Amino acid sequence: MIELTDERATHELARRLVAALPAGSVVLLRGPLGAGKTTLARYVALELGFEGRVTSPTYTLMHTYPTPAGPVLHVDVYRLPDPKQIYDLGLDEAAATARLTLIEWGEPKDFPGALEVELQPVSENVRRVTLRARDPRLQEAARRVTEEMRTRG
Ligand SMILES: Nc1ncnc2c1ncn2[C@@H]1O[C@H](COP(=O)(O)OP(=O)(O)OP(=O)(O)O)[C@@H](O)[C@H]1O
Ligand SMILES: [Mg+2]
Repeated sequence: MIELTDERATHELARRLVAALPAGSVVLLRGPLGAGKTTLARYVALELGFEGRVTSPTYTLMHTYPTPAGPVLHVDVYRLPDPKQIYDLGLDEAAATARLTLIEWGEPKDFPGALEVELQPVSENVRRVTLRARDPRLQEAARRVTEEMRTRG
């Protein structure tokens, strides 16, 4: 478990996730309304060099942010009756060639190859974050990032 005491800590988490996650990784951003899913996505895109607008793709389903390291895909499955429908839209192929794919509101059962980032609001600026993965490579990345965040100065 990681405690983010303010948005700067969330930015720091984004920086460390970018460093730890291999190209083509899929990240599930979970947590209630206002937890900070889009905020974390914005910092991830920023860390990869995208400085444009990052908003929840609630109605558009997917936003693509170009970065020097490759596209960042930002998906929101909130409005899909069946989140697996996103695969019918070609997500697997797109994710494989993207630098990172960030999915808001995805369930781990629908995205078993993803890193799950669960954001729990504690107070106005404080969030608790748990990183989980089934894939051994992502499990190792999750362990490393959690350790780094816990021991940062
Ligand atoms: N430590 C923090 N990390 C992330 N966001 C924070 C933090 N502290 C305060 N905030 C604020 O919390 C809000 C999070 O909103 P955001 O849109 O990112 O949530 P969301 O999880 O994407 O919500 P939704 O489910 O509606 O899409 C922002 O206004 C952000 O500034
Ligand atoms: Mg959002």
